[in-house]
Amino acid sequence: MIEFQNVSFSYDGKTPVVEQLELVIKTGETVGLIGANGAGKSTIMKLLLGLLLPAEGKIFVDGLLLEQKQLPTIRKKIGYVLQDSDNQMFMPTVFEDMMFGLLNYGMSKEDAEVQVDTVLQQLGLERLKYRHNHKISGGEKRMAAIATVLAMQPEVILMDEPTTALDPCNRRTVIRTIKSLPQTKLIASHDLDMILETCDRVILLSQGQIAADGDCRTILSDGELLEKHRMELPLCMQKI
Ligand SMILES: Nc1ncnc2c1ncn2[C@@H]1O[C@H](COP(=O)(O)OP(=O)(O)O)[C@@H](O)[C@H]1O
Ligand SMILES: [Mg+2]
Repeated sequence: MIEFQNVSFSYDGKTPVVEQLELVIKTGETVGLIGANGAGKSTIMKLLLGLLLPAEGKIFVDGLLLEQKQLPTIRKKIGYVLQDSDNQMFMPTVFEDMMFGLLNYGMSKEDAEVQVDTVLQQLGLERLKYRHNHKISGGEKRMAAIATVLAMQPEVILMDEPTTALDPCNRRTVIRTIKSLPQTKLIASHDLDMILETCDRVILLSQGQIAADGDCRTILSDGELLEKHRMELPLCMQKI
């Protein structure tokens, strides 16, 4: 579903941020992307959305080469919640924001509203429906952004730090939701306990390169490996 072939990227044309990345994610996989601050997680997400262009190499989504003329088709396949989801909502209310994409894709108003209500209920967010996007808290905005993405039923879901700034109850809802979604998912996070619960496979990034790629539990129980790359064992694996 996702393939990076020898992808390199740099913001300034000098310092490499992603270096010769080779990566294949199969349909239906849930993959955790971990790594210290600045490792390149968000950059990889943005490359995958075509928001940044690789200096070298190729990216494929569902077999389509990511290039300008394929972007509209590829964007339809991918739903994303970026790290700075504050800027992701652009209609006045949560409801209008969720409806916008669905109506844009040709769904009838009635069907779209049913879909919106279903997702809001699934996430326990009915109370946010008519709230104004600029009058809700950061965590609520994050939840609303997730709801908007889920309503679109994309084939691939990218989530960058989905649980950051969420209260325990919403964090739990997000974990439960991620687990229940059949789509291909790539989830970047420092919340290794969440990654452990939701992912089958983990990719550990270090300075734009893959330092480890494999079974989630194996990598997240390797204290030495995590420490070497400026991370710690998930809380549930730490001895008290
Ligand atoms: N817009 C930008 N301009 C210049 N450098 C950037 C920009 N965004 C990120 N970087 C740099 O690229 C590197 C990778 O950043 P990022 O992908 O955001 O890492 P992560 O999400 O893993 O914390 C960091 O060194 C960061 O400082
Ligand atoms: Mg990031």
